[in-house]
Formats: sequence, C-alpha cells, structure tokens
Amino acid sequence: MTHKSLALISDNEAIQSSVARAVDRLDDHSLETLSGTLSSVNGHASQLLCDNDLLVFSLPEELDVDVVSDLRRSAGPGGTILALSDRDITLSEARALNKLGVDEILPFPIAQDELTEQIQRLTLDKSLLPAIYNPQMHRLGHVISVCPARGGIGASTLAINLADQLQGHSGFFRKTTKNKVAVVDLDLQFGTIATALDLQPSSGLMTMAQQGVTPDRTFIQQSMVQHSSGLEVLSAPENFMPLDVLTREQIAALIETLRMEFDYVVVDLPRVLVDWVGAVVNASDRMLMVSDSSVSSVRQACRLIDFFAKERLEPPVEIVFSRERKPTFRSSHHIEAQKALGRDLKFWLPNDERHAKQSLDRGELLSQTAKGCALSKSIRTMGHKIMSETEVGSNDQRNKAA
Ligand SMILES: Nc1ncnc2c1ncn2[C@@H]1O[C@H](COP(=O)(O)OP(=O)(O)OP(=O)(O)O)[C@@H](O)[C@H]1O
Ligand SMILES: [Mg+2]
Repeated sequence: MTHKSLALISDNEAIQSSVARAVDRLDDHSLETLSGTLSSVNGHASQLLCDNDLLVFSLPEELDVDVVSDLRRSAGPGGTILALSDRDITLSEARALNKLGVDEILPFPIAQDELTEQIQRLTLDKSLLPAIYNPQMHRLGHVISVCPARGGIGASTLAINLADQLQGHSGFFRKTTKNKVAVVDLDLQFGTIATALDLQPSSGLMTMAQQGVTPDRTFIQQSMVQHSSGLEVLSAPENFMPLDVLTREQIAALIETLRMEFDYVVVDLPRVLVDWVGAVVNASDRMLMVSDSSVSSVRQACRLIDFFAKERLEPPVEIVFSRERKPTFRSSHHIEAQKALGRDLKFWLPNDERHAKQSLDRGELLSQTAKGCALSKSIRTMGHKIMSETEVGSNDQRNKAA
C-alpha cells in the first residue's frame, strides 16, 4: 500500500480528534492538522490540497463560496476535498458545494467506522485503478440500488429489466449498446437473479466472504458472468451464506470498483438491514424504493427511508409503485402515501402478472420475451428517464472538471 497524506483545516476540536482517530486506524495514512477555517488559512489551503491526497475541512456557519471555488480552481481537478458539517445542511447547499468542487460532504458527528471508511474510499489510489484515472475519461458509473418494501413486490424483476434498458440498445436487432451495465444480486440468501436470467450462480461473493478479500478488478472479472443481452451479472451464491460475513469495507470496495468499470451499476438489495447495506446506501446515486399503495407497504417504506437517513444526510430515494398503472388523477390514498413518504410517487409499474411470470419462467428478460407488453414499456420509459437525468449530471461533472 502506498502512503496517503491528509490535511485537515478545522477549529473544531471534536472534528480534529475524530479525524485523527480515523487516520490512526488506517495503515500508512498520515495527517497534518491546521487550526482555523478555510478563509483564515488564506490561500494556504490550495497548497495543502496539492501536497496531500485528501483535504478535509469543517464547514463554517457562513461559508464563503468564493474561497471554495478559488481552492478548486488553483489546485485543478486532481485533489480530493471532503467537508464535514456539524450543522444541518440542505440538499441544495450540498449540491452547490459539489458543483464548486467539494467531492464529499459528511455530517458530523459521524460514526468512527464510517469516517474511517469514507477516508479510505476518498484516498483510494486512483493510479492503481483499472482505467487511467482522468476525470474526463474514466467511467464514473451511476449506482442504482433497488430496495423492496415487502417481499415479492417485483424488485428483482425491476432490477434486471431496468439494467437491460440502461444499456441503451440501438441499431439492427437492438444489438448495439451505449452503456456498460452491471447487475449485482446482494440478496445473498434468497437472490433469484441467476435463475431469472438462466445463468450459472457465481461463487464470487462466497469466496469474498470466506477469504476476506477486498474485491478489485481481477475479482470482478473472475466473478461476473455475461448474459446474452450484454449485462454483466454478479449473482448471489448457490449455497447458503450467512449475511453478516461480508463487511462494510468489502461491499464499499466492490461498488467503487464496479463504478470504475461500468456506466451503470444496479444493485438488488435484500429485505434485511445488515451493516453492509449502509455501504450501499452511501454509494447509491439513486435508490429505488419499490412499494405499492397498501398502508403496510408504505409504512415499511417509510421505516426504511428513516433508517437510511441515519446513514446518510439525504438518501437519494425515489419511489416506484409496483403493480399499479400510473393514474390520471391521484386518489386520496396516493396523496396520503406521497405525504407519508415525503416525496413524489415518481415511477409506476403496471400489474402484468402474465408477462412477468413468463419471462421469469423462461429465464429471459422482458425485452426478449415480451418487448411490447405494458410492464416492459414502463421499465423502458423509466430507463430513458434515468439515462437523460444521469447524462445531465455527468455533463455537470465534466464542466466542473474543465
Ligand atoms: N409488475 C408486476 N406485475 C405482476 N407481477 C409481477 C410484477 N413484477 C414481478 N411480478 C411477479 O412477482 C413475483 C415476484 O417478483 P420478484 O422476484 O421480481 O419480486 P421481489 O420483490 O424481488 O421478491 P423477493 O422478495 O422474492 O426478492 C414473480 O412471480 C414475478 O413474476
Ligand atoms: Mg428479489
């Protein structure tokens, strides 16, 4: 492992000692602390950003945005910046900071494990990563997790068919694809994706657990199976595997490595809350919560969103209502559900038992068995919407780097 250096600018003693403890727990990481704020260290910050792998600063009550943009401008796109905030910040403030060039914003206080893991992630040696690390050239895949509010709701059906649509098929026989897409079945004990796609289950995740390996590019190449549609699949193991044998660090590394290799990474989550689910929540650019309009499912979805909120400042949850066609007018129970969930009912998937079952039984995708059916069309529309929203996002990123 190569040596990693961090610089911290903060006048908050709790932040100083928490970052120092996190760095102590990582091998080969060192820390230089400067007491003050980004503005008070006056220009010295850009030198620190150039000289270190990661610059951490605490967010003051009133942030002078010019200081942050000057910092990014003078240091270029190379260095990584982490802001720790001991006050509540809004999503738009967080987005604005991202746009100015802050790579990550975390709430403080933060669990010690979580801070250590985030520092490790942010100081990953980009030169060892597969693609040449160039913010304009490397893939920085969009991670979409799919989370079911109850069993049998259609989450896995959505995960695989959405992943298929995100490939952006075009051309003769729709054989040309625009995007490289991975599907990961993290429903370790009851995962159905290998069966649903008629693939041999992979023992990769089992090996990762048994040997305690941190997944890298080679692991991914050895563990993923390609489906005839082009999708690369990391399935759940065939044999029973306890859920808690995987660690948060392993799952975080798995997702970050996949993000470097693929344009989209679709993760099918289990219906249990095990520690490493937190790593998926943290890495998700978008989390699709699959529910229906029944009171019990909506309540369950709310509980999950509250749980995820403890992991992350603003979990990027979007609601998918399954087995219900989008109504022309929302009824009172839809409005109630929307209120309880605190967000729009963004996507709707019609009830289409016949085609869903048919494709599952044949071990094929909807685009292969029933391309024109209502369910397939809804997932296609959803894929297009996500792709158009993601492209806007990545253009922002590119502009930021330029
Ligand atoms: N939109 C839909 N309309 C009707 N039936 C559906 C729909 N989506 C999936 N199904 C059917 O529901 C069943 C469960 O689907 P699926 O495995 O995708 O759900 P899940 O939420 O992943 O379930 P699990 O709790 O087992 O993980 C399957 O038989 C599938 O054919
Ligand atoms: Mg499932």
